[in-house]
Amino acid sequence: MKTKLSKAPGRLDGRVAWISGATSGIGEAAAELFAQEGAQVAVVGRRLELGRKIAARINRRNPGAALALACDVSSEAEVAQSIASTVKAFGRLDILVNNAGMVEIGDLHTYSEAQWDRVMGVNVKSMFFAFKHAFPLLQAARRGYVVNVGSISSFVGQARTPVYTTTKHAILGLTRSIALDYAAHGIRCNCVCPGITETPMLWEHLNVRPDPSAALAERLRRVPMGVSLSPLDVAKSILYFSCEDSAGVTGTSLTVDCGYLTAAEWQCTGPTAFQKKSSTP
Ligand SMILES: NC(=O)c1ccc[n+]([C@@H]2O[C@H](COP(=O)([O-])OP(=O)(O)OC[C@H]3O[C@@H](n4cnc5c(N)ncnc54)[C@H](O)[C@@H]3O)[C@@H](O)[C@H]2O)c1
Repeated sequence: MKTKLSKAPGRLDGRVAWISGATSGIGEAAAELFAQEGAQVAVVGRRLELGRKIAARINRRNPGAALALACDVSSEAEVAQSIASTVKAFGRLDILVNNAGMVEIGDLHTYSEAQWDRVMGVNVKSMFFAFKHAFPLLQAARRGYVVNVGSISSFVGQARTPVYTTTKHAILGLTRSIALDYAAHGIRCNCVCPGITETPMLWEHLNVRPDPSAALAERLRRVPMGVSLSPLDVAKSILYFSCEDSAGVTGTSLTVDCGYLTAAEWQCTGPTAFQKKSSTP
C-alpha cells in the first residue's frame, strides 16, 4: 500500500503578505521564506523586471505564490496602488513588511534638503503610507501583522550616516505608536533590527572604503560571533513577527546582530565556533 506524504502545515498557510524592497537582500529572502511557509506574497519594489524574476522563481517551487509589483515606496499613490493590486490578485491582506530602505553616506553639513527628504521618504514616510492603505484590509483580516525593518542604527549612531540613523531611530517610535493605537483592531506591530547583513546595501556602505573586504573584516572583529548575517537569518525574525509564534508580542523590537550591540567595546581575538564550517548546524 502506498502511503501518501502530506505537506507539513506552513506557519503562513492562507495568509497574504506585502513585502517592500523584495527585489534584493533581506526582502527577497523574506518573500522566499514566506512562500515556503504557505503565504501568497506581493514582491514589491522599484525594479519590476527583477521582481518578476524573483516571483517566477518562487512560483516554480510554490505555484501561484508570488506576484511582482512595481512601486516606489516614497510615493503614496504607488504604495496605495500596489496594496490594491495585492488584494485584487490574492483577495486579502494579512501581513505588511516595511523593509525597503536606502542609505546616504556623507557629513550632515554637506546634505541638500532633497537628499534629507529622499531618505526620510523612503525609510520612514513609506511606512506611514503603507500602514494607512493597508489598515482597512488588516482590520478585515481580523489578525494583522506589521513588521518594520529598523537597524542596529535604531539604537546607536554610525559614522557618516546621519539621516539614515535618524530614520532608523524614528522607525522604533512609529512601531510603538502603531502597536498602541491599533491593538484594539487586532493588529500587532513589531520591528526587526539587523546588524551586519550580506546584502547589496552592506556593500554600498563598504565600497566607499579603499579596501571594502578588509573594512568588513575589521567591522566583524567587533562582533562577538565574528560573522555577518545572511538575508535569510534576518528573514526568519521577520517571519516570527508575522505569525502566531510571536503571539502576544507587540510594540517591541528584536535585534538580530550576532551580538554586535552587546558590548561597548569588543575585539575578537581568534576564530569563533560560528566561523568554522564544521560547526554549521
Ligand atoms: N544589510 C545590512 O547590513 C542592514 C543592516 C541593518 C538594516 N538593514 C535594513 O534592511 C532593509 C533591507 O535592506 P538590505 O540590506 O536587504 O539591502 P538591499 O539594498 O538589498 O535592499 C533594499 C531594498 O529596498 C529597495 N528600495 C530602495 N528604495 C526604494 C524605493 N524608493 N521604493 C521601493 N523600494 C526601494 C531596493 O531596491 C532594495 O530592493 C533596509 O531597510 C535596511 O536599512 C540592512
